[in-house]
Amino acid sequence: MIQRQKGCNDIYGKEAKVWKYIDHVIDELMEKYNYTFIRTPIFEATELFHRGVGETTDIVTKESYDFEDKGGRRITLRPEGTAGVVRAYIENKMYGEPQPIKVYYNGTMYRYERPQSGRDRELTQFGMEILGSDDPLSDAEIISAAVKLYQCLGLKEIKVNINSLGDNESRDQYREALVKYFTPKIKDLCPDCQERLEKNPLRILDCKYDAGNEIITNAPKTIDYLNDASKERFEKVKEFLDIMQINYEVDPNIVRGLDYYNHTVFEIEAKVEGFGSNNVLGGGGRYNGLVNQLDGPETPCVGFASGIGRLAMAIELEKVELPISDSIDLFLLYVNDDEKKYAAYLAQELRMAGFIVDTEYTGRALKAQFKQADRLNAKFTCVLNSEDLDNNEVKIKNNRTKEEDVISLDTIIYYLDEKLTLEDNEECSCGCGCGPDCDCGCQEGKECTCTDEKCNCGCEEGKECTCEDEKCGCGHHHKKEK
Ligand code: HAM
Repeated sequence: MIQRQKGCNDIYGKEAKVWKYIDHVIDELMEKYNYTFIRTPIFEATELFHRGVGETTDIVTKESYDFEDKGGRRITLRPEGTAGVVRAYIENKMYGEPQPIKVYYNGTMYRYERPQSGRDRELTQFGMEILGSDDPLSDAEIISAAVKLYQCLGLKEIKVNINSLGDNESRDQYREALVKYFTPKIKDLCPDCQERLEKNPLRILDCKYDAGNEIITNAPKTIDYLNDASKERFEKVKEFLDIMQINYEVDPNIVRGLDYYNHTVFEIEAKVEGFGSNNVLGGGGRYNGLVNQLDGPETPCVGFASGIGRLAMAIELEKVELPISDSIDLFLLYVNDDEKKYAAYLAQELRMAGFIVDTEYTGRALKAQFKQADRLNAKFTCVLNSEDLDNNEVKIKNNRTKEEDVISLDTIIYYLDEKLTLEDNEECSCGCGCGPDCDCGCQEGKECTCTDEKCNCGCEEGKECTCEDEKCGCGHHHKKEK
C-alpha cells in the first residue's frame, strides 16, 4: 500500500468541516479589515527564499524543498508566504498603486522538518500583509486582526507576546553585543551555533537544538539596544494596541526565525493544556527592508501568518463548539428503477432550490436506506413510492418527531421551506420548552426542566440549573444559585 509522505496529512470528514469553517471565518474577517485575497505560486525560484527569508535561517539551510526542474531551473517549494507576496508586489508594480496594499493568502507551504504534533512538512498557512505603510497603526492592526481571528473562532486561551528588534542602527548595536557575549561561550553551543556566530548571531537565539540552554536564555535582549526612535515607535504600537483593547505582554526573548524582521515582532501562543511545545499559533512582524532587498523600491511592510493545522488543534483542545451543520435536509428513498429515476430528478430540483438533499447510491434495501438517512442526520425522509408518484403525491416524514404528511409534489419546495424553518426554530431537543435561541433547555431566571439525562447545558436531570456563571461556557444564561 502506498502511504502518504511523512509530515503530510489527509484532512477529511469532520476535520475538513472545521478547516472549511476556519477558512470561512478568515474570509469574512479579512473582508471587514479590507484585505484582498492574493494567490501566488506554490513554487518559486530558489533565490527568492535564499535572499528573502535568509541564507542562515533553518528554513533555508535545513528545511527547504529544493529541486531542479526539467529546464534546469533551481526551484523551491515555498516554505512561507511573505517572500512570494513581496515578489508579486514588485513584479506587478503594486508599489505604483495607492498605498498601502493589504493582502491575505491561505495555502500550503513546505518545510522539511522533523514531523511531530503541530509540526508538519506540508502545512497550510493563512497570512496577511500590509505593504507600503510605516505607520505603527498598521503594526497594531495586524496584531489586532490576528487576535480577532482567534476570538472569532471561539478561542479564549491565547496570549500575545510582542517585542521590538528596532531599526538597522539598533540591530547593528545588538548584533555587536551578541558577538561579544557569545564569543567566550560559543564552544559550549552546537556546531550550527558556532557557525551562526560569524554569519548571523541573532539566529543563535532561536536554535532548536540549544533551546532552553542557559547561555541562550541569559543572552542580551534586543529591547536594551533600541535607539530612541525605535523605542518611541514601539511605544506607539503599544499605545494603539491599548486603544484597540488588545491584551499583550512584552517578551524580550522573541526574535523570530526569519531574517527579514525589524521593529515589531510578535507571536501568539495557545495556552490551552495538552498543546505540547509547538504551541505558537501564529507570528509575524515588520519587515521594512525586504522589498528593497528583492530589488523593489524602499517599502515598509508588516505581516503575520498562522498555521491552520495548529488552529484546528487549539479549537479541538479548547472544545470550542463551532456552528458546523452535520445534518442534511432531506433523504430520498426508493425501491424500483422508476422511483430511482424520480429520485434523481427530484434531488436535482430540490438542491437547485437550496436544500441539502441526498439519496441512495449503493442498492441498499429500504430498511438500510432508513439507517443511512439516520447516519446522515436527515431532518426529513421521503419514500418515493410509484403509486404515490402516479397520484402526484409524496409522503414526507419528520425524522425527529416521526410525524408524516402526504403532500402534492407541486408543493414540496414550499412544504420543506416552511417545515425546515419551523424545525430550525424548534424547542431544544431536551424538551424543556425554552425559546428558539436556546438549545440547552434553561433560560435565565427560569428553572431548567430538562428531562434528558445529559443535556449539554451542564445541569442534571430533574434538578435546577445551579451554574454560577452568568454566562457559562455553554453560551446560555443561567440562573444563579439560590
Ligand atoms: P512562521 O513563524 O515561520 O512565520 O510561521 C507562522 C506559523 O505557521 C507558525 O506560527 C505556525 O502556526 C505555522 N507553522 C510554521 N511551521 C509549521 C510546521 N512545520 N507545521 C505546522 N505549522 C507550522 C512565517 O511564516 C512568516 N511568513 C510570518 C509573517 C508574515 N511575517 C510577516 N508576514
